[in-house]
Amino acid sequence: MSSKWCFILLSFLNLSLGCNADYETVKKICEEQKTCSSCLQTQTCMWCAATSSIANYEPSIRCVARDKYKDPNVWCPVSQIINDSTVMIVKENLPLFATKNTTPMQIQPQVLRLRLRIGEEYNFTLKYSSAEDYPVDLYYLMDLSSSMSQYREDLSELGVDLASAMRHLTRNFRLGFGSFVDKVELPMTDTLPEKLKKPCNEDIVDCAPPYGYKHQMNLTEDADSFKTNVQAAPLSGNLDGPEGGFDAIMQAMVCTERIGWRKDGRHLLVFSTDANFHVAGDGRLAGIIEPNDCECHLDKEGTYTHSSLLDYPSISQINRIALKNNMNIIFAVPQDVSNTYQRLSECISGSAIGVIKKNDTVNVINLIQKEYEKLVDKVKMIDNAKKPITLRYFSKCLDKKGEVIERSECQGFHFGDIIQFEISIKATECPTNPENWQQLIEIKPQGLEDTLKIELELICDCPCDKSDHKAYVIKSEKCNYQGDLNCGICKCNDGFYGKHCICSGNETQSNVKDDCRASDNDNSDCSNHGTCQCGSCECEIRENPAENFSGKYCECNNFSCLRDNDQLCGGHGNCTCGTCVCMPGWSGLSCGCHDNSTCFPPGDNTKICSGHGTCDCGKCHCDNDVFYSGGYCQDCPTCSEVHCSKLKECVECYAFNTGSRSKNGTCERCYDDIEIVAKIDKVDVNEADYQLGYRVCHVPTDNGCSFDFKYRIESHRGDMPKSYVTVEENKKCPKAIPIFTVAISVIVSTVIIGFLILLIWKIVTMVHDQREYAKFERERAMAKWERGDNPLHKQATTTFSNPTFTESRQN
Ligand SMILES: *[C@@H]1O[C@H](CO)[C@@H](O)[C@H](O)[C@H]1NC(C)=O
Ligand SMILES: *[C@@H]1O[C@H](CO)[C@@H](O)[C@H](O)[C@H]1NC(C)=O
Ligand SMILES: *[C@@H]1O[C@H](CO)[C@@H](O)[C@H](O)[C@H]1NC(C)=O
Ligand SMILES: *[C@@H]1O[C@H](CO)[C@@H](O)[C@H](O)[C@H]1NC(C)=O
Ligand SMILES: *[C@@H]1O[C@H](CO)[C@@H](O)[C@H](O)[C@H]1NC(C)=O
Ligand SMILES: *[C@@H]1O[C@H](CO)[C@@H](O)[C@H](O)[C@H]1NC(C)=O
Ligand SMILES: *[C@@H]1O[C@H](CO)[C@@H](O)[C@H](O)[C@H]1NC(C)=O
Ligand SMILES: *[C@@H]1O[C@H](CO)[C@@H](O)[C@H](O)[C@H]1NC(C)=O
Ligand SMILES: *[C@@H]1O[C@H](CO)[C@@H](O)[C@H](O)[C@H]1NC(C)=O
Ligand SMILES: *[C@@H]1O[C@H](CO)[C@@H](O)[C@H](O)[C@H]1NC(C)=O
Repeated sequence: MSSKWCFILLSFLNLSLGCNADYETVKKICEEQKTCSSCLQTQTCMWCAATSSIANYEPSIRCVARDKYKDPNVWCPVSQIINDSTVMIVKENLPLFATKNTTPMQIQPQVLRLRLRIGEEYNFTLKYSSAEDYPVDLYYLMDLSSSMSQYREDLSELGVDLASAMRHLTRNFRLGFGSFVDKVELPMTDTLPEKLKKPCNEDIVDCAPPYGYKHQMNLTEDADSFKTNVQAAPLSGNLDGPEGGFDAIMQAMVCTERIGWRKDGRHLLVFSTDANFHVAGDGRLAGIIEPNDCECHLDKEGTYTHSSLLDYPSISQINRIALKNNMNIIFAVPQDVSNTYQRLSECISGSAIGVIKKNDTVNVINLIQKEYEKLVDKVKMIDNAKKPITLRYFSKCLDKKGEVIERSECQGFHFGDIIQFEISIKATECPTNPENWQQLIEIKPQGLEDTLKIELELICDCPCDKSDHKAYVIKSEKCNYQGDLNCGICKCNDGFYGKHCICSGNETQSNVKDDCRASDNDNSDCSNHGTCQCGSCECEIRENPAENFSGKYCECNNFSCLRDNDQLCGGHGNCTCGTCVCMPGWSGLSCGCHDNSTCFPPGDNTKICSGHGTCDCGKCHCDNDVFYSGGYCQDCPTCSEVHCSKLKECVECYAFNTGSRSKNGTCERCYDDIEIVAKIDKVDVNEADYQLGYRVCHVPTDNGCSFDFKYRIESHRGDMPKSYVTVEENKKCPKAIPIFTVAISVIVSTVIIGFLILLIWKIVTMVHDQREYAKFERERAMAKWERGDNPLHKQATTTFSNPTFTESRQN
């Protein structure tokens, strides 16, 4: 349960402290550090200790992020940079080995020296291998109150069996024995004189006077002597239920030399009782108030001498000593008290519990064997690191292809297997007490003596901070003789403050601080770009002379304005407190815009963008870009009526040397490309030309003539458009009319025409008359018979004939 909590706590710590802060924040945090030590205590920062006597310049920011400058020399002379970083030196690195009668080496490396930056994680590898025939010491601690008599017999037999059973596991096995009863005081023991002599019941023959704890047999390889010793150990008795086993456990654990515990071995302490135990505080019942001192108090005979002087140890004392001395306690108890001991075992690290039965040594041996195997079968790395130093263990354990996961415990391995632990060490802050800046961290497998010692030195201060450093100047001139110059800065004496200890008074007074802050919400002086100097801001000086901070609180600067074309304020303005003040003729946030003057086409009385667009940032944007184009929206390649009249004058001048542009044989302001040809194709019929942009103009001139030309306008954005004109070499003029000739010819022609008309009329009438006459004649001739007289009619005339002329007449 507790380990689970520890894990949760650890993961939480990692979350809150291990995450790398955003890079910008790191940079800022560095720059906020005002002393060399606090700079080095901040992750990834480095300090410049230059003073003007050593270097010809001093940086205004002394603490910066390591990678702020590609070439740190621009910030600080390299020799003056204090940039301590994590270094590890392996001091002892013997290979793993295990041979009998030599000290086995189960851990590699053995000694490391580590200088560690705060906040930096350092990883190293530790190898562990469980040695075969690793020394095992087993001390049997037995309750010899009379109730245990039935177990004593068994136990005496146990020794040999246990030794032979253990020799299967390790050939390097020792066995020892001790016994306990209880404190010889009321109410623990009956202090009646006869009871003090013989506290047991009548049926027990060998009954010794009561005692607290007695060490009976040194740890030895001789299992037979175990049997004799146990048999020789007399029973005794006490009064109350619980026994004084804790006194015995404590003595057995702390009297290492007397008992013969080997330093580099596994230590098993088998504690066998059938009763409950007394704990710290119970001694008061007998008037013993002195707490247990966890020291060894055995006399020559091996008897505990302070039984009546010191109280019983507490459970936590037992746990602590068990951890320290690598004791694995095995509680071997009968069923009826096993619950109590189960709970006790949970409180003592590395302990276990097993149930024994009467007349059953096999059970005890199995129990011990099992516990031993459990111990050897797993390895758990423990360490003595305390906050703020944290160690994390990562391992694949035995799974060669497996994942490296965070764990400090591996299970299921055998002798000879090698396990690698990746150990990550990190200190989150400097301990407040400088004594703790150097620590000895010990990492070891639980229950074993082998340790990896890390001589850890936390990098918490700068060498130049120490008054014996060669660059340390006491009462320096630079510090107004009121402070010490160290690591490049002044450490002012009491009553003075400021960068050069010029200000007198008390810096911590809040009003002084307030004068350097624009508002109460600010939590740093001078907007973080200067130092508060006796209540006013002294802005920091940039390395780049073209950049400076200004303003009462250094809140302004002249280098963080918008850029245009890679130039501050487009090169057309001054950067004032973060905004661009543009030069006349320029506008825009970054002064990148010309004003409207560049939108007027050349010439007089022109309109902005030729009236066909708007001026935006000094450039014309044409209203209808299908029609209008060109830098001033002056072009409309498809608007021929516009171009015909525009081009007309120059064309006329060039081709015919007439027109308003024609001055003294030259054409004024005519730049078009004009070619004269005999005859132009009419583009209307020439589709290809039309597609190329050719248009035809037919324009009249002032003197009544007219001419034709063909043009094409080429315009590239920004340039003046260029016109290509082809003109017909001849004007079309009406011929001059001679008035006299015209008049004569008119008269003549009129006369002739009149004459002709008369003639024609005459002829027509003559022909008509003749035809009429002929017709009359014909009709007359034909109408002969029709002229027969009406018989009724009597001619009024009378005809008389000349008789001489009769032959020509028929009647
Ligand atoms: C500072 O130390 C770090 C880590 O050792 C190194 O990478 C860096 O180059 C050092 N910088 C300077 C300026 O010495
Ligand atoms: C240390 O090891 C852990 C686990 O393998 C890894 O997450 C971490 O990034 C390592 N740290 C360094 C500085 O290599
Ligand atoms: C047990 O060890 C102690 C200390 O090492 C020694 O003085 C004593 O003689 C030993 N006892 C026996 C019986 O070997
Ligand atoms: C213990 O068991 C053995 C046989 O295993 C038996 O002979 C002996 O009488 C038993 N002793 C007791 C006290 O029960
Ligand atoms: C400055 O003020 C603080 C608290 O206001 C006080 O503890 C300290 O002694 C003062 N120092 C001097 C030199 O007046
Ligand atoms: C910023 O101010 C400094 C000092 O007044 C000056 O030399 C520099 O030219 C200024 N830079 C700009 C971009 O105005
Ligand atoms: C910084 O520049 C501003 C304007 O460019 C100027 O007013 C100010 O005096 C300068 N400050 C320093 C310390 O040169
Ligand atoms: C920019 O600064 C220069 C020098 O300080 C000054 O002569 C000029 O008038 C300033 N221009 C504007 C637009 O403020
Ligand atoms: C430039 O011309 C635009 C219209 O094209 C007008 O809105 C703007 O106010 C003018 N800017 C200046 C500085 O004259
Ligand atoms: C016209 O040209 C002639 C010579 O080419 C020159 O002498 C005369 O001054 C010019 N007149 C004008 C008004 O340019």
